[in-house]
Amino acid sequence: MPSEEQISVAIIPEFEVDEALDAKLRAFLCELFPNWESIFRTRRTWHDAKPIFTVLATNKNGAIAGHVAIVERTISTEWNCRYPVASVQGVSVAPSRRGEGLARKLIDMALDESRRIGYLYAILFCREPLVQFYSRLGWKLPYDPMIMWRDRELPIHMQSDYPMYYELTQEPFPGGSIDVHNPF
Ligand SMILES: CC(C)(COP(=O)(O)OP(=O)(O)OC[C@H]1O[C@@H](n2cnc3c(N)ncnc32)[C@H](O)[C@@H]1OP(=O)(O)O)[C@@H](O)C(=O)NCCC(=O)NCCS
Repeated sequence: MPSEEQISVAIIPEFEVDEALDAKLRAFLCELFPNWESIFRTRRTWHDAKPIFTVLATNKNGAIAGHVAIVERTISTEWNCRYPVASVQGVSVAPSRRGEGLARKLIDMALDESRRIGYLYAILFCREPLVQFYSRLGWKLPYDPMIMWRDRELPIHMQSDYPMYYELTQEPFPGGSIDVHNPF
């Protein structure tokens, strides 16, 4: 049953995240992703990237109810076309607020803002049980491999090994295998 408590949702650009908020966000991520505590104890995103912005839901008392971060990555195609993409990270809703459509709302806001910034595509990597969740929200599984690279030579073995993509405009997602890099 939806909780009566009001929550506020805001888009926070990275330059507005001070030390205290950074620590609060990392504490939330450590709690929601206990298996990845070693990552979130020191930073909020994967593979040396910084968020561009965070979509944050908070209760009236300031406690975090939900979180989504957007990091920029570059994808390159088999034909060496390159696109900057919005990479969705840290999708999480506090257990007491689940089932109210909050994750959908946070992801929609993150995608709207990414579209406004000018990205054509969003991507994410998730685990198999979450594929159905993201499919419900309009995300698609690529036909061909999508591989994350640490640098130009070293592929990353992803713990979340189901890549998905979302088309932010009418422009179709490129076919063929896709490499994902930190921006360069
Ligand atoms: C996954 C998670 C973010 C969902 O948050 P939520 O606020 O309860 O999700 P919503 O209420 O917005 O659900 C949106 C839709 O997905 C469905 N859904 C929710 N969780 C689902 C799941 N685990 N599997 C499949 N579908 C799911 C809902 O039924 C709803 O569908 P509908 O709109 O067609 O009725 C939340 O359970 C969570 O934080 N889990 C732990 C962290 C995690 O695994 N994050 C994902 C990292 S990739």
